[in-house]
Amino acid sequence: MNKLLMHPATKPVIFLLCLLPFARLTYGAFTDGLGANPAEFLIRATGDWTLRFICIVLAVTPLRVTTKWNALARFRRMLGLFAYFYVVLHLLCYSWFDMGFEWGDIAKDIAKRPFILVGFSAFVLLTPLAATSFNRAIKAMGAKRWQMLHKLVYVIAGLGLLHFFWMRAGKNNFAEVFVYAAIIAVLLGWRVWNYASKRRAKAIAGARGGEKPLRSTT
Ligand code: HEM
Repeated sequence: MNKLLMHPATKPVIFLLCLLPFARLTYGAFTDGLGANPAEFLIRATGDWTLRFICIVLAVTPLRVTTKWNALARFRRMLGLFAYFYVVLHLLCYSWFDMGFEWGDIAKDIAKRPFILVGFSAFVLLTPLAATSFNRAIKAMGAKRWQMLHKLVYVIAGLGLLHFFWMRAGKNNFAEVFVYAAIIAVLLGWRVWNYASKRRAKAIAGARGGEKPLRSTT
C-alpha cells in the first residue's frame, strides 16, 4: 500500500477526487440540477463538504498509525487545504445568496445568529492553519510551534459540529449531526487512547531502565 501511496500519480488522482464535489455542484448550477432551491443546496452542500474534509483530515493519523501506511502523511496538507477551499466556498455562497454581499448585513447577521457566529469562528481559526500549511511557514515557525498551532483543528472540528447541531436544532433534525459527532468522537478518542498508551509504554520502559522517546502525532 505504501508503494501505491508513494506513486507519483496518486497525489493528482486524490486531488481530482477532492475536486469532484465542486465539479458536481458547478455542473448542477449550470444545468438546473440543484433542486427547487439551488442557493440553499449550495450553502448546505459546501458546509457538508467542509465538515467531511475536517473528518478526513482527522482520520489520516489514526489510519496511518494503525495500518502503518506512513505514506498517507503526504496527503494531509492537501486534504486540509481542501477543507479550507470548501469553507471559503460555503462562506461565499452564504455571503452571495443569503446576504447579497452586503458586508454590513453580514457583520450584523454573524453577531445576531449564534450558529453563524460559531461557524464564522471555525472559519477564522481555520485560516491560520491554511496559511501556515506550506514548508516555508513550518520552517519559519519551527516544528513545535507549528504542531501546537495545528492542534486547533480539534477546536475547529468541535465548532463545526456545534454550528451544524445549532442549525439543525431549529428543525429538530439531528440524525446526521449524531453521525458526524460519533465519527469525530472516535477520531479524537483514538488520539487520547494513543497518547495514554504511549505514556504507559514510556513509563514501563523507564521502569526497566530503557527510556523510549515520546513521538507526538497530530
Ligand atoms: C469550519 C467551518 C464551518 C463548517 C464545518 C460548516 C458546516 C456546515 C454544515 C454541515 C451545514 C449544514 C448543511 C446541511 O444541512 O446539510 C452548514 C450550514 C450553514 N452554514 Fe456553515 N459551516 C462552517 C462555517 C460557516 C460560516 C463561516 C458561515 C457564514 C458566516 C456559515 C453559514 C452557514 C449557513 C447560512 C448554513 C445554512 C443554514 C440553513 O440552510 O438554514 N457556515 N454549515
